[in-house]
Amino acid sequence: MISKIPFFVIAISLFLGLALAVDHEVDFSYSGATGPSNWGTLKPEYALCSSGLKQSPVNIIQNKTVLNQNLKLSKQYDAVANATLINSVIHIALKYDGEIGGMQINGKIYNFEEMHWHSPSEHLIDGQRFAAELHLVHRAQDHSAAVNAILYQFGNSPTKVDPFLAELGDALEMLSENNVTKVDVGMLNTKPLTQNYRKFYRYVGSFTTPPCKEGVIWTILGEVKTISQEQVAALKAPLEPEYKDNARPEQSLNFRKIELYNKLK
Ligand SMILES: *[C@@H]1O[C@H](CO)[C@@H](O)[C@H](O)[C@H]1NC(C)=O
Ligand SMILES: *[C@@H]1O[C@H](CO)[C@@H](O)[C@H](O)[C@H]1NC(C)=O
Ligand SMILES: *[C@@H]1O[C@H](CO)[C@@H](O)[C@H](O)[C@H]1NC(C)=O
Repeated sequence: MISKIPFFVIAISLFLGLALAVDHEVDFSYSGATGPSNWGTLKPEYALCSSGLKQSPVNIIQNKTVLNQNLKLSKQYDAVANATLINSVIHIALKYDGEIGGMQINGKIYNFEEMHWHSPSEHLIDGQRFAAELHLVHRAQDHSAAVNAILYQFGNSPTKVDPFLAELGDALEMLSENNVTKVDVGMLNTKPLTQNYRKFYRYVGSFTTPPCKEGVIWTILGEVKTISQEQVAALKAPLEPEYKDNARPEQSLNFRKIELYNKLK
């Protein structure tokens, strides 16, 4: 009996390993037959990608936004935590160990889950696409999601970098040079999370990747930050060619209103 235990344990771990591998298989891309215009028909579970009426990303037309100074975003995060940089096939993601805090929207608590980058940006402002976009994904106990987005543009000087991403430079290089899926970053600050939102846009949309689940509360920082061309190239470097440009095209607003909070007004 005892001699069977190791085999049992091995069988279970092999099974789990396989299940994880299958779960991680990515069956969509950003161009051609598996590209965004076909996501909705790749699998029944992806149907919302084409039939959904509250999809993301969208174009934020500034003079059509509705000012709402009652919008709130209260956040509380640990200042530092151990972090891991991950090549998740479709983008580069960053996770912190354990619970590091979260935010509250309309009385509901959303805990931070992970952050990841898209380049070019997915959301547009007055039709303008930016160099990159960071998504800070949060999840409530009932699994509903709230994502904060930060847009990045190239600065006038090529040396004007995003300081947070600059700290991840070596880890990013290791992801591509060593062709690995994970790199330990060690203790890292949580700067993108603690960013001050003096101006932001808010609307309800979806995740921007299949299965394109809706009900996501989007908060888009009104201030566009700076990133260097080299940093965007470093974010793309570990990704396979079909995921280097990982922005889903603009989705129709379909009568949704985008609200604006502006403390500066
Ligand atoms: C809103 O912006 C559009 C395009 O930029 C412009 O044509 C229109 O006149 C603006 N409307 C108002 C009310 O400012
Ligand atoms: C961070 O990770 C290192 C290496 O794994 C570990 O030695 C250290 O205790 C961790 N620190 C915290 C605060 O979790
Ligand atoms: C990286 O590793 C994956 C799987 O281990 C392999 O399929 C791929 O060809 C490798 N890429 C390079 C550039 O070595």
